[in-house]
Amino acid sequence: MPSSIDTIDTPALIVDVDRLEGNIARWAAFAREAGVKLRPHGKTHKCVEIARRQVSAGAVGLTLAKIGEAEVMARAGVRDIFLAYEVIGGPKLPRLISLAREIRLRVGVDSADGAGALARAAQGAGITLDVLIEVDTGLGRCGVRPGEALAALAQDVARLAGLRIAGIFTYRGYRSDLEAAGREEGEVMVREADRLRRAGIEIEEVSVGSTPTGRSAGRVGGVTEIRPGTYVFNDAMQVRWGSATPEECALVVLARVISRPSRDVAVLDAGSKALTAEHGPYSSRGESHGVIRGYPDCQIDRLWEEHGRVQLTTEARRLRVGDLVEIIPSHVCPTVNLAERLVCVRQGRVVETWAVAARAQVQ
Ligand SMILES: Cc1ncc(COP(=O)(O)O)c(C=O)c1O
Repeated sequence: MPSSIDTIDTPALIVDVDRLEGNIARWAAFAREAGVKLRPHGKTHKCVEIARRQVSAGAVGLTLAKIGEAEVMARAGVRDIFLAYEVIGGPKLPRLISLAREIRLRVGVDSADGAGALARAAQGAGITLDVLIEVDTGLGRCGVRPGEALAALAQDVARLAGLRIAGIFTYRGYRSDLEAAGREEGEVMVREADRLRRAGIEIEEVSVGSTPTGRSAGRVGGVTEIRPGTYVFNDAMQVRWGSATPEECALVVLARVISRPSRDVAVLDAGSKALTAEHGPYSSRGESHGVIRGYPDCQIDRLWEEHGRVQLTTEARRLRVGDLVEIIPSHVCPTVNLAERLVCVRQGRVVETWAVAARAQVQ
């Protein structure tokens, strides 16, 4: 195994393990102080070694989206998983049932049709499946709206043999003014949980949050669980939103300069197959596909599959063919999904390599 970063082949994902462990510890401490359960979303890392560190630090288990991800994590010893996702489609159900027999598994629902199919599968297998109803608190993705729609679906699900309503969950995601957005997300969910309880439906879990809103939503009394994912690594997007600092970014894409076609342009060996095509307003020059450490104003302005073009600042003109750069990716979760392994470093020395064991598990 190469021992220093400059001997690593590129492009590669490099994880600073001290920073990673710092992020894991900080959020675990927050959850303990706030008195909420921490159930990190494993889609960010898809990596068994990181899941184990999260659970050792106090996480109750994992949140995941796909059955394939849950199968990988269950095999690795994670015994408590919430699929915060609508599991729809006949071919998925036998896998869901066998997982539910093996570990503590809970699943998201947001429709009577979806819940009905789960109920029939559970009943047929002679088990009771725990479900959480998804509430749309403003993202406009899955979930039923608070109020009448939620109450009606909860009554429908409560009548289904084979299912037990374990609670409600939401994913609000980013909104400007994170403090107020998270508080509102938590308050809406606690209010809805109380309304359902008054209607005779038992609601144990009120599950909220994300890296941007998890801290403020988690402080709302009555919220029982938060599900941040990106916090383990953070990325350019979280730094831009103010939910992480550059020093809390624990993963970079290591790339090499492969061409210097002109004074102000460098071309890297990391394109959309290493960085994803995601971009955002991370450079003072405009949209960029990430932030180059040490040269934050350079703009990665265009990606091809194998090439990333950088518009250089004056001080970055010193970059030469063969030089290494570290890129904080725009959005770390899909970036990790592209890689087979994470190269782990401590104080600049390579210490381990971890497989991205649950990558590409889209089913
Ligand atoms: C349902 C759900 N919960 C939690 C998360 C974690 O959010 P974040 O990665 O912003 O921390 C996500 C992310 O997409 C999600 O979809």
